[in-house]
Amino acid sequence: MAIIFDQVNSVFTLQTSHSMYQMKVDEHGVLLHTYYGRKGIPFDYSYLITYADHGFSGNPYDVGDNRLYSLDALPQEYPVYGSGDYRSTALKVQYADGAGGCELRYVRHEIREGKYSLPGLPALYDSPGTAAHTLVITLEDSRKVFYVHLYYGVMENLDLITRSVCVENRGGDPLYLEQISSVCVDFQHGDYDLHTFWGRHLKERTYQRTPVTYGTQAIGSTRGASSHQHNPFFLLTSRQASEDTGDCYGFSFLYSGDFLAAAHKDQYSQTRVLMGIHPDNFRYCLYKGDCFYAPEAAMAYSGQGMNALSQIYHKAYRHNLCRGAYKTARRPILLNSWEGVYFDFNAEKLMNMARKAAQLGIELFVLDDGWFGKRSQDISGLGDWYVNENKLGCGLKELSDEIHALGMQFGIWFEPECVNEDSDLYREHPDWALKVPGKAPTRSRYQLVLDFSREDVREHIFGKICQVLDSAQIEYLKWDFNRSISDIYSAKLPPKRQGETAHRYILGLYDMLEKLTARYPNLLLEGCSGGGGRFDAGMLYYTPQIWCSDDTDAIERLSIQYGTSFGYPISTAGAHVSHCPNEQTGRMVPLETRAAVAMAGTFGYELDPGKITKTDRLVIQKQIKEFQKYYDLIQDGLYYRLTNPDDYPSYHGWEFVKEDGSEALLCIVALHVQPNASRCCMKLKGLKEDKIYLIDGVKYPGSALMHGGYLIPHAKVEYESFRIHVTEWVE
Ligand code: GLA
Repeated sequence: MAIIFDQVNSVFTLQTSHSMYQMKVDEHGVLLHTYYGRKGIPFDYSYLITYADHGFSGNPYDVGDNRLYSLDALPQEYPVYGSGDYRSTALKVQYADGAGGCELRYVRHEIREGKYSLPGLPALYDSPGTAAHTLVITLEDSRKVFYVHLYYGVMENLDLITRSVCVENRGGDPLYLEQISSVCVDFQHGDYDLHTFWGRHLKERTYQRTPVTYGTQAIGSTRGASSHQHNPFFLLTSRQASEDTGDCYGFSFLYSGDFLAAAHKDQYSQTRVLMGIHPDNFRYCLYKGDCFYAPEAAMAYSGQGMNALSQIYHKAYRHNLCRGAYKTARRPILLNSWEGVYFDFNAEKLMNMARKAAQLGIELFVLDDGWFGKRSQDISGLGDWYVNENKLGCGLKELSDEIHALGMQFGIWFEPECVNEDSDLYREHPDWALKVPGKAPTRSRYQLVLDFSREDVREHIFGKICQVLDSAQIEYLKWDFNRSISDIYSAKLPPKRQGETAHRYILGLYDMLEKLTARYPNLLLEGCSGGGGRFDAGMLYYTPQIWCSDDTDAIERLSIQYGTSFGYPISTAGAHVSHCPNEQTGRMVPLETRAAVAMAGTFGYELDPGKITKTDRLVIQKQIKEFQKYYDLIQDGLYYRLTNPDDYPSYHGWEFVKEDGSEALLCIVALHVQPNASRCCMKLKGLKEDKIYLIDGVKYPGSALMHGGYLIPHAKVEYESFRIHVTEWVE
């Protein structure tokens, strides 16, 4: 049983294959956090808690004269604002009379088989063999106005614990939620490092490691999307932890909107981590009987370093978060029209590209931005989701039919959430865009954001998308979102509910994506937000792949995909081979290397195949065959980071290993080519020590490859890459 309740000591122990998480209801009804880490005997870990008379840290009234008991110092499971705990808080409410402070006490709990789900929100789900259980612990506030239901999904065989929180208003008056975290963990002892993933447009998920220092270190987004700037995923590790050793904890938020994640080191050197909806654009009103569900967070522990921690997320997200026909099926190798022709196309030009693409072995032709409304630049047309037949020179069906006749599938780009002011939609419904009364809206890429918290707006756009999808054979849809949200005010909500707009927007987005996936179960959806501006676990519930970045330079991509790999599987990371010199950086990178990098993702091309040489065409044909050959190993194998490209190694490497250790693919890119230099020796991972492996016909013991290493060929050309196939030798 993955959830054990020790009635004598009132201790809850949650166990996964390798981790253990523990809480205890103490004699005052306070839910204390006692342990999170390596799995062991389910013993009461509250012996680790120290009680002391802490100056300027008060005592709850119901502990009487006991000055040793302070919520400001105790490790708590779900701290609340106004309880005498002055650290970063998980929950802040305001009662109808304007008061804010309260305390939470245990009421009851429930343990059940299977994993809970959340209404209208993405959540990890059960599958045969995950051995999932749910624990719900209910706390109540001092005034007995509301319940806090803490949800725990213990997914034993995935080695992962999910969290969510439901606040239920039991009283007659409205209750305002001002801040709600989905996860909070107090680490009483130890020094930690915080690992986060910052970025900007064209440089997403850049890895950063910093020691947790006294005070609060926070990352987040108030952009209405999870953002390019900070990813809603972070790690907390021991100071010594490396890719292969040490205690590592992961915290991932299944949410695509504003978020706040923080690590707070307090006066007693305890570290509290929190992650939830960002409070800046959030104030939610609950009437009697209303429940608010906080988005899910997924936490995992590895006692064997960061690679092992990442592999937990890779497996869980690939198999128990992503959904749909393409969850694990091989995705078609695509050619996207964007960097090849941008807005400058008609059907003839597209067909010329498509014919060449088909000869290369491309399986899906994706028509990007520019096929609809009055759209020859990004200044107009967004919102008018009807085919621009004048521009194309034919209908979408004709185009799609011709592409299918070449043996390829057909896909199309949409940006459903936005509108240009120069569009029929905006001229007809100016109030459908998010705007603050009396203030001109902030423009971004000449576009405004439609109010997706409104059902009527969503219904209209959904209807238009369906009309297009039903008009031709379309197997793929790229769902883009090309700006940050500002002017958060919904024309439909009353004043006291305006603070709900940003969250309702995300619920509206999820609602529409749910309807779309239900109506078109075989449609492959790729998420996108100016590249990876909404690359999060929430979106992955609807779109099993997300365009990683608008930066297609393979060398820049090494860092972007390296950062992405910490929290997300290879099968989710959209990656394409594009033209050189690269559109974003002007860099020249060998075609082989561009493909090697794109193969550590969904793999496709984004160029005009009419503009490549005959030699390159032959190379591409070979690449496509190679990707098909290694597909299972790449997508289903264990992924190992071997070096950090931002540490300026001369050779950067990563590796895919079959789960049983019988096969591996070592991928290397030379970042700094030097003549007369010593050879790079790369140590492999994940092999079986006592087995013999073959590389280019030469035999090596697994232990030699892992502990001695493998000598990488000396690179002679800048950014040269090497793919080294390792197979177990069987007599
Ligand atoms: C965004 C996407 C690109 C492309 C353009 C089209 O920037 O990330 O891939 O689709 O929009 O306008």
